[in-house]
Amino acid sequence: MTTPALRVSELTKDFGGLRAVDGISFQVEEGEFVGLIGPNGCGKTTTFNCISGLLELTSGRVEVLGQDATGMRPDQIQKLGLTRTFQHTRLWREMTVIENLLVPPRQQFAPSSLLALLRPGSRRAEKKRLADAYSVLDLLEVTHMAHNLASELSGGQSKLVDIGRALMSSPRFLLLDEPVAGVAGPLAMKIFQNLRDLTSEKGIGMLVIEHNMDFILRTGVDRIIVVATGRILMQGTPDEVRENQDVIEAYLGDS
Ligand SMILES: Nc1ncnc2c1ncn2[C@@H]1O[C@H](COP(=O)(O)OP(=O)(O)OP(=O)(O)O)[C@@H](O)[C@H]1O
Ligand SMILES: [Mg+2]
Repeated sequence: MTTPALRVSELTKDFGGLRAVDGISFQVEEGEFVGLIGPNGCGKTTTFNCISGLLELTSGRVEVLGQDATGMRPDQIQKLGLTRTFQHTRLWREMTVIENLLVPPRQQFAPSSLLALLRPGSRRAEKKRLADAYSVLDLLEVTHMAHNLASELSGGQSKLVDIGRALMSSPRFLLLDEPVAGVAGPLAMKIFQNLRDLTSEKGIGMLVIEHNMDFILRTGVDRIIVVATGRILMQGTPDEVRENQDVIEAYLGDS
């Protein structure tokens, strides 16, 4: 049996008297593209914060790419190969889009990437990084904004550049928090398809938070984990989710 890229076991997170995440367990395989969906305040972002080391777990265990990551700092988890984006984008507003891509993600600075920035790199390495940055912009269909300041981007464009920054760290596993919020429907679908291709081509595991059930069911994700008030309501393929009675009652009742 292969080791999953991400394994979360009995994860619980309390904020004082509030239990935001209530003993959830799931795993994501390498190369798998999985959606995490649930209503506002059900604990999706908190789950990401616990996995990526920003919050201490109340109890439970997180394994990233075969290693116990429970209690590790964000930069240590990043070093294992896990990168995340934030629900509210964190771009360097005073820098251009392409410059934003060339700086490692904030709060996820691995010491080695800091050293790499300070050390005068070879010209060839710099050129390769620049070419990588442009292909990431192509993938996200924002190449035309390469030389605009991040402060000039729309909300949706900022989200896309933020995904680009995550991709630039050559992750082996990606957590994306509502990556296409504010991105218009057809482009959002295209971005999901591009991310899907990336998981297959590079074997990256991806866990993506979405709040729109109808949208996630049409994106071609491999599996969907449905969360309600800190617990997993069900997890399965899009077809299984569509046919699940609990999901129908909670989400799809009208259709
Ligand atoms: N740092 C914090 N301190 C106290 N309570 C928090 C904190 N972060 C989140 N919460 C609470 O935990 C619960 C889950 O929040 P979380 O942000 O994980 O929800 P979410 O599923 O990501 O929601 P949304 O879809 O609105 O982004 C909410 O009730 C929220 O108020
Ligand atoms: Mg959230």
